[in-house]
Amino acid sequence: MIIYRAKDYKDMSRKAANIISAQVIMKPNCTLGLATGSTPLGIYDQLTEWYKKGDLDFSAVHSVNLDEYRGLPKENDQSYYYFMHKNLFDRVNIRSENTNVPNGMEPDAEKECRRYEKLIADLGGIDLQLLGLGHNGHIGFNEPGEAFEKETHCVDLQERTIEANKRFFESADEVPRQAYTMGIKTIMQAKKILVAVSGEDKAEIVKKAFFGPVTPTVPASILQMHNDVTVVADEAALSLCCK
Ligand code: F6R
Repeated sequence: MIIYRAKDYKDMSRKAANIISAQVIMKPNCTLGLATGSTPLGIYDQLTEWYKKGDLDFSAVHSVNLDEYRGLPKENDQSYYYFMHKNLFDRVNIRSENTNVPNGMEPDAEKECRRYEKLIADLGGIDLQLLGLGHNGHIGFNEPGEAFEKETHCVDLQERTIEANKRFFESADEVPRQAYTMGIKTIMQAKKILVAVSGEDKAEIVKKAFFGPVTPTVPASILQMHNDVTVVADEAALSLCCK
């Protein structure tokens, strides 16, 4: 595991975007695994800027996103499909048909999860998977538990997550109760993994996930077992380790 220390959020975003852009330059038809959340926003801004300058070409890139709410249509501005189009896909020259997000509107969970796993396999696997880190160590929607969940699966969102997401919806009833997410095995099969972390509020979990024991109670700790992981974190996120 390589840990890059960034000064602040902007520097973290630039360093992480550099790694993604190196991947796209080295293998123009690569498959990128992408994430939503607040952490990657600066990375997507930076990639867009470099694309606009003519330094990056996404025309042969494929993408697969980590997760999506179950039961939320693409047009809903809280869907991860909507997020990805707004923050990256519609701003660069990636072909829309080459982008993939789990289909939250597929009611048959098993069918959708199988389809997504096959899609990733048919693309030849993920060349570079970008991850954010949840405060409890979750990656994708893989929450702390008794075992590492393996492949793409349907999860029941924790009450805390539903509560936290309530503010984005008209009422608590509209907050999705489930999501489709790549599993730990799906993530661990990516050839390279890039974890982006920022902020003092993540310092505790950075220490646990990357310097503590490997345990399903901290899902991100499994990344210690992958042989090509790069963590790009800012000073605040690294404040409890790597002084
Ligand atoms: C996003 C995802 C989540 C986030 C994590 C961190 O697709 O799967 O695991 O990466 O919750 O979120 P932020 O970046 O908002 O702190």
